[in-house]
Parts: sequence; C-alpha cells; structure tokens
Amino acid sequence: MTNPTELLKQRYGVDAFDPEIFWSECISTLLSHRSVRAYRDKPLPPGTLETLVAAAQSAATSSNLQTWSVVAVEELQRKEKLAQLANNQVHIRQCPLFLVWLADLARLTYIAESRGLPHEGLDYLEMFLMAVVDAALAAQNAVIAAESLGLGTVYIGAMRNRPEEVAQVLGLPPHVFAVFGLCVGYPDPTANIVVKPRLPQSVVLHRETYHLAEQENGIAFYNQLMQDFYNSQQMNVPSDSDWSEHSVKRVASAGSLSGRDRLREALQNLGFLLD
Ligand SMILES: Cc1cc2nc3c(=O)[nH]c(=O)nc-3n(C[C@H](O)[C@H](O)[C@H](O)COP(=O)(O)O)c2cc1C
Repeated sequence: MTNPTELLKQRYGVDAFDPEIFWSECISTLLSHRSVRAYRDKPLPPGTLETLVAAAQSAATSSNLQTWSVVAVEELQRKEKLAQLANNQVHIRQCPLFLVWLADLARLTYIAESRGLPHEGLDYLEMFLMAVVDAALAAQNAVIAAESLGLGTVYIGAMRNRPEEVAQVLGLPPHVFAVFGLCVGYPDPTANIVVKPRLPQSVVLHRETYHLAEQENGIAFYNQLMQDFYNSQQMNVPSDSDWSEHSVKRVASAGSLSGRDRLREALQNLGFLLD
C-alpha cells in the first residue's frame, strides 16, 4: 500500500491532514484514481466483466428499483461507431472493453405493462434522475473494482453528444438512455498517467451550512497548483489560462456543450417525458 501521506499529497499538492487516524486498502485505491486514455493490446482475464458487474450491482439503488443496465461492447466495429459518435476519442477503439451505462426505465415500463398496471410515475423528471443516479453509483463501483485489479478506466460523457444515434448502435428500446461510457483495460505502461490534484477541502467541504465567498482563497491556491500541474505534464493549456478560466470556458455557451444543449429534445425522442 502506498503511504497515505504520499497519496494525500498527490491528491492535494500539499500535506492535507494527518491520515494515520483511519485508513484502509480501499481508501488507497480511491486516492490512487486517475483516468486512463492509453491501453495495452491485452485482453481482460475471463470473468472480469462479470466481476465488475457484480461490484456495480452491489451499489445502493433507490428503493431497490435497479433502474440501470449496462451494455458491454467488445466488437471492434461497434466500438469504432461509438468512438465516431463521441468526438473520435481513440481510447474507445483501443480499450478491450467498453461499458455503456444506461438509465433504464424500460424494464419497469415492461413489467407494469405486462401486468396491466399503471406506470405514470415513470414519466416524471424525478424518475429519470433516479435512474441516472443509480447508473452513476453502479458505474463508479465498477471503476473502483477495476482499479483495485490493476485495470484502468476513463468515463466517456461524450456518449451524450448524439444520444439517438448511440441508442441505435446499441439497440436501446424507448425509455433507455446512455448516461456515459467507460473504457476498461490494462494501462499502457509507456504512457505517463498521473494523479490529477483536486480542489482543497476548504472549497468543497462545508460544515453545518454552505459558504461561497470563503472558497476564494482555496480556488486561488488550486489555480496555481493546476498551472504547475499543466506545466509539469506539458499539457496544451495556454499559460495565461488557469483552472478557473478553463472551467468557465467549458460552460460559456450552449455551443460549449458539444451538442448536449439539445439533451431535453433527445431525451423526449427516446421516450422520456420529463414531466
Ligand atoms: C461523467 C464523466 C464523463 C467524462 N467524460 C470524458 C470524456 O468524454 N473523455 C475523456 O477523455 N474523459 C472524460 N472524463 C474524465 C474526466 O476528464 C476526468 O475524470 C477529470 O479530468 C479528472 O481527471 P482524473 O479522472 O484523472 O482524476 C469524464 C469523467 C466523468 C466523471
């Protein structure tokens, strides 16, 4: 197990707090997370998919409704099509296993209809949100399981760029929506894949009540930390642009949403009324 002090230093860029109090192997795995965008050409051991799905299914789920599903894509051609729909991200083609996590209200619709029972509740935004939360919790359990096995992953939110076409490629019925994809595979050992620092806890952790203006110092600290990080990684970020500016650009206009500004319309086309 890597030293907790070192893990915290990687995550926050400074000695954050004394970790000797309460720690576990699982927390070490969590703090070691980094997204992997370069994979070895090596298949996963048999049974890996089923193990990851068992981990995913062990996540909590609202009212035990289990309103999520996952499509495992291994065929090169299908990965290729999905990569094209996700802004041509090469890691989707390269990874041996691509998991698409679904908000799934089709199963409950089907059960209700096959018993002749009403299901208007499924038409509400709340149920869609519930299914998205369920899918995210399940996926993150799979990520942790994968990372604990020495595998790497990266989420692919770009699955939402062109939702109707993704639904077609995966044969999704109405009331099913691809929330995000997840590349899974062995990290390429020649790629420099490092832990990315996060905001100081003073910014995200609020005690008793929420405080906005007090976050300023922590954000300024993080801007500097990330500037150093971008430089050390030789990342293509303009030298006068810091994390704040970079983040605000991501939300500057409808055009910055890579097609997802029409998500409501896409969801309605996929059978979600969102009342
Ligand atoms: C829901 C979600 C969607 C994401 N979509 C993409 C994506 O489409 N492409 C990509 O390369 N990374 C994607 N990421 C990865 C983030 O960029 C990454 O988690 C973030 O930069 C922090 O880096 P780290 O995961 O290495 O700590 C996504 C992450 C999440 C949680």
